[in-house]
Amino acid sequence: MRPILVAGNWKMNGTLAETRTLLEELLQRLDRTQDTGHKTPDTKRPVEIVVCPPFTALSEAAGRLKGKPVALGAQDLHWEAGGAFTGEISAGMLKELGCTHVILGHSERRHLLMEPNGWIRKKLGAALAAGLTGILCVGETLAERENDQTWAVIEKQLSAGLDNLTPTADRLLIAYEPVWAIGTGKTATPEQAQAVHRQIREWLAERFDPKFADRARILYGGSVKADNAETLLNQPDIDGALVGGASLKAKEFAAIIAAAPKQKEGTCCTESS
Ligand code: PGA
Repeated sequence: MRPILVAGNWKMNGTLAETRTLLEELLQRLDRTQDTGHKTPDTKRPVEIVVCPPFTALSEAAGRLKGKPVALGAQDLHWEAGGAFTGEISAGMLKELGCTHVILGHSERRHLLMEPNGWIRKKLGAALAAGLTGILCVGETLAERENDQTWAVIEKQLSAGLDNLTPTADRLLIAYEPVWAIGTGKTATPEQAQAVHRQIREWLAERFDPKFADRARILYGGSVKADNAETLLNQPDIDGALVGGASLKAKEFAAIIAAAPKQKEGTCCTESS
């Protein structure tokens, strides 16, 4: 059983004061309701939690999360280690702040900032080389879905994003985020999401090997909320969620974490690495 992973993508939200308040409330709620990060074979699948505040709040968040079962992630990085790259942040800088994860290729960067696959591949390479876990986002627009191009688009994003890379299964998270479902309140049905997740897993088995595919975690993102998380997380190939808007409300985010499915009878949890 792959451990569930729930990641919060705060996007361009979170002053220092808001970061403190949100994390305090989240940690209190998790203390009360959640046995996180532990093996609980006869109850819930283990759940790993990551929050990805904006760069400016990472240091504040790192301080709050010290010793807590919530990991810290960034929302992007630059592939170079340093130098004349105005406005950019390197993998080493993120590591120094305590980040263990980084979101790469989010559709808002692909579509609003015209970020090409080649950059995303370089970013993922730099993240992996620095020992960060990369969260590689893929997903189709509504027009692409309506034109039956969903898999062609995702396949291209996967093969270009992973070109010549050999991550270990614990260092790579794929997030399937249909662009039409992000921030729109429209969620892919559990069946639609499961079908794409299955295809991604089959692709990973071909590209790497079946064991890798079996261990790799594929997250769903796009209007995940407390009231739809359980059915999504119960799909066999959905191993967690990348949550945007709902991760800014501690109660809602904690409820999504609590929606992690039960262990199936006869299975037990293994570590992802
Ligand atoms: P959303 O965003 O949950 O607000 O739809 C998800 C994401 O962009 O990662």
